Amino acid sequence: MRVTVSEKSALSYSRLVYGVWRLADDADVSVSHVRAKIDAALAEGMTTFDHADIYGDYECEALFGKALAEDGNLREQMQLVSKCDIALISDKFPARRVKYYDTSADYIRSSVENSLRHLHTDRLDTLLIHRPDPLMDAAETGKVLDDLIDSGKILSAGVSNFRPESWRLLQKHMTHKLVVNQIEISVLHREAFINDDLSALQLDDMAVMAWSPLAGGRLFADDAAAQRVRPLLQAIAEQNDTRIDVVALAWLIQHPAQIMPVVGTNNLQRIKGLGKALNLFMDRETWFEIWTAAAGHEVP
Ligand SMILES: NC(=O)c1ccc[n+]([C@@H]2O[C@H](COP(=O)([O-])OP(=O)(O)OC[C@H]3O[C@@H](n4cnc5c(N)ncnc54)[C@H](OP(=O)(O)O)[C@@H]3O)[C@@H](O)[C@H]2O)c1
Repeated sequence: MRVTVSEKSALSYSRLVYGVWRLADDADVSVSHVRAKIDAALAEGMTTFDHADIYGDYECEALFGKALAEDGNLREQMQLVSKCDIALISDKFPARRVKYYDTSADYIRSSVENSLRHLHTDRLDTLLIHRPDPLMDAAETGKVLDDLIDSGKILSAGVSNFRPESWRLLQKHMTHKLVVNQIEISVLHREAFINDDLSALQLDDMAVMAWSPLAGGRLFADDAAAQRVRPLLQAIAEQNDTRIDVVALAWLIQHPAQIMPVVGTNNLQRIKGLGKALNLFMDRETWFEIWTAAAGHEVP
């Protein structure tokens, strides 16, 4: 099951995406272990990998890139998404006084060059503007994204954490189409279902990636909403001979916007089996039972 994001460039993403935000948090960051996680993700059908320049204090792309450098055939088996515009306070940038966003042409260009170098690749399949920048000059940002696509350094561009008017402003200044918005969606974070963002994305023919689809692990923690919904997820998991995480991803998969959950587990055993989410059908009442349990009250 794949999501076509650009007919023109024949670009498609896997329905489940593997995100590497937490890659450097793993106790084992050896290239062989990173490769084992990549292989486990690929075996579950996750061919799309989600990066950002800043992940792991600017280290994750390079950790992942070592695996790509070791095996010349690996890059062709995957799609690489990366992001930029967040400038972190970091030892790597000692002169930086504050965390900020930068969507200037120079900043985006240099971030893409760094990502390509760290990932040992000649192109990103998609570059996302990581967060809306209040100082974004849409004409400047749109032009650099178009230029990067025309040069082949990125095959497509998208946004993350954008609301409709902000992505439409950027799109107005581009010739190429913005292909995706990556936003937070999970059983415990349901805002996009009711604030019309998912409708706007469908209207604008944009793909949707859901970050932290297991609420960043909160689904398994001592959290009131998680405690309300877990017994139900567990019961559905048992009926389907699977696990809670798979049911929570399947809940997102049911939505007609073709949501692509971006999972972030570092645990090899947890990566295995996630693909089952694509085949777990949930009827409407079950979907709303999960909503109701998570919200703590029925829908209006
Ligand atoms: N665009 C953005 O602004 C943005 C923001 C945040 C994230 N992202 C992207 O989204 C990706 C996923 O985010 P995420 O890592 O927060 O996603 P997630 O899949 O919701 O959460 C992963 C976390 O949940 C834990 N977990 C998973 N299954 C578990 C289980 N069965 N029991 C207990 N804990 C469990 C994992 O721990 P283990 O590793 O121990 O399994 C990990 O700490 C990131 O890698 C990044 O690519 C994007």
